[in-house]
Amino acid sequence: MFTLNFTHQQKNHALPAGQRYAAPRAEGFRDTPATELRSLIAELDTGRPWREAVAARYAATNHWLYRIVADPSRTAFFEQVLPRGQGPVLDIGAGWGQIARPLAKTRPVVALEPVAERLAFIEAAARQDGVHEQIAYVEADYLEVDFTDGFEAICAIGVLEWAGAFQNHTDPQQRQLDFLRKVRRELIPGGALVIGIENRLGLKYLLGCPDDHLGVPHIGYLPAALARQRWAEQGNTLQSFTYSQAELEKILRSVGFTQIEFYAAWPDYKLPTQIISLKDEGRPLHDWLQHQNPPAEHNGYDGSPLEARFQENLTALYRSLAADGLARNFVPSFFIRAS
Ligand SMILES: C[S@@+](CC[C@H](N)C(=O)[O-])C[C@H]1O[C@@H](n2cnc3c(N)ncnc32)[C@H](O)[C@@H]1O
Repeated sequence: MFTLNFTHQQKNHALPAGQRYAAPRAEGFRDTPATELRSLIAELDTGRPWREAVAARYAATNHWLYRIVADPSRTAFFEQVLPRGQGPVLDIGAGWGQIARPLAKTRPVVALEPVAERLAFIEAAARQDGVHEQIAYVEADYLEVDFTDGFEAICAIGVLEWAGAFQNHTDPQQRQLDFLRKVRRELIPGGALVIGIENRLGLKYLLGCPDDHLGVPHIGYLPAALARQRWAEQGNTLQSFTYSQAELEKILRSVGFTQIEFYAAWPDYKLPTQIISLKDEGRPLHDWLQHQNPPAEHNGYDGSPLEARFQENLTALYRSLAADGLARNFVPSFFIRAS
């Protein structure tokens, strides 16, 4: 059992593991309507196993979401890179609990998730998995909570790109920087940040695949200022931003990280079937691409498969970029370990 100490709105709080702190907000990221998720949670509360309930609802009708929630590959990266100690791990934007629940089998976890019903699902599923008391549940925006004690690891899987969204008081890219600066402060010495994020320059996007966050092609990969302008021309305010490897490295260094390891994740960081180090200027990746077809990719907005010819072009281009030592810049997504 552990107690989580933090400050929110100038008040100190001590939250024992197994309990929840809530700072509710109306807006937030949803891949499922709130009412639908609430009714799923009600099924869990009657004793129906969460995997069975999620499969019954989504396996046939929204297979991609089903896999995002239930696929064992969701934790594939963590086993490789988490610090070996037993200290608490903070999972920011814990979603459906895909990372928090498995980690809680071996160490204390803080699941921080601003969307109430998403956190409620994590609690209900954690109860069934026998790890409820290993997790402290914080329903809040990460930037509004100050943790007192450091974490051994902080996970932000699919979160940094959204950290500037669902608010209108701070420039979204400034918020992403604030987010990373705060993570750096809240890690203990030797602690590591683990990120999963799409590559702004992912080859499929450059070839016209819709952006995962906007649902349209040919905007998200543009340099940020131009992307904002193009999205504004369509009457929208751009709030989600991804970055290239060089940009991410620069940002992470600017907030104080010194050891930064990049990995390419195929077809993406959400459901990775191949995770390949980008060390040595991408040599392991380039060797691999010379001998193997990378896993088929998909439209990252809705999970639909890419057309066969599009996939064929992608594969051929990766191979020729690998031969020139350039493919590492155009991988679909990254895992990053930064300390
Ligand atoms: C794409 S989902 C990823 C969920 C989960 N980490 C996963 O890998 O499936 C992004 C998550 O980040 C959360 N999020 C967005 N902005 C956040 C913020 N400022 N603080 C904490 N969580 C945030 C959202 O509520 C959402 O659950």
